[in-house]
Amino acid sequence: MIRAGVIGHPIGHSLSPRIHNQWFEDVGIEGQYEAVDASPQAFEATVHELMDEGWAGLNVTIPHKAAARELAGETSAAADLIGAANLLIFRDGDIVADNTDVFGFEMSLEAIGVSRSPEHAVVLGAGGAAGAVLYALRGAGRVTLLNRTRERAEAVADRFSHIEVRDWADRDAAAAEAPDLLVNTTSLGMEGQPPLDLHFGNDVPRAAVDIVYGKGPTPFLKLAKSGGVEKLTDGLAMLVYQAAPSFEAWTSCFPDADRTLSELRASL
Ligand code: ATR
Repeated sequence: MIRAGVIGHPIGHSLSPRIHNQWFEDVGIEGQYEAVDASPQAFEATVHELMDEGWAGLNVTIPHKAAARELAGETSAAADLIGAANLLIFRDGDIVADNTDVFGFEMSLEAIGVSRSPEHAVVLGAGGAAGAVLYALRGAGRVTLLNRTRERAEAVADRFSHIEVRDWADRDAAAAEAPDLLVNTTSLGMEGQPPLDLHFGNDVPRAAVDIVYGKGPTPFLKLAKSGGVEKLTDGLAMLVYQAAPSFEAWTSCFPDADRTLSELRASL
């Protein structure tokens, strides 16, 4: 019996158990994937406890992604540069950290026919979710990063070589440069949060990706669609595609993520 899970705080509404447990059934492997709630104080001890109990690994979500990368003995290049891990694999008493949010974002782009090496991408937000997006876009010609707190964007940009920072107030102007891609990595538009305040003019981005998801199109994607942006996708795609290599890490089977994404979309 393979045991794995997602650790976060709070964790109540995670869709990950549903995704992974369905995949265990699909591939016919006996396994159990659970949501684990652990406060920041309890995080490290809980990870070690689960490893000692024989779990195969953990996905990691808010607020533990930076701590997850810190506690691992071995880290992938992506986890190192981003400074955060969403996957911990337990291997012979060692903890290996990776960041499959990068793959999740890359696959989200691929699913809507957008290159991960665009000439110009505009990224809104420099919080926890921005690192994986910026890493995935490391082949872009240039990336413009805008965050309400400019210093935070500058700190993130310092770690990458291809990013120019602009003031948050310039976001309409940045979108009007008609970049190949506009990404919302802020929490604006999540349930209980106000929508992103953005206005499109005549020239709009070619594609828009929101890391937020919910029932139906997010406020940002509705805005982008009515502005005339043609290629759109939300954070549900990123959630499902980041889960796939995690599942592969504990089972050596790569699941049918496309099917899961359509099923989830239909049922939310
Ligand atoms: P998480 O870890 O969930 O990503 P976070 O790291 O605090 O949370 O990031 C949230 C992102 O949404 C940040 O880019 C944040 O901007 P600041 O760095 O200025 O806080 C952005 N954000 C949240 N509320 C916002 C608002 N009302 N207007 C603009 N940006 C906002």
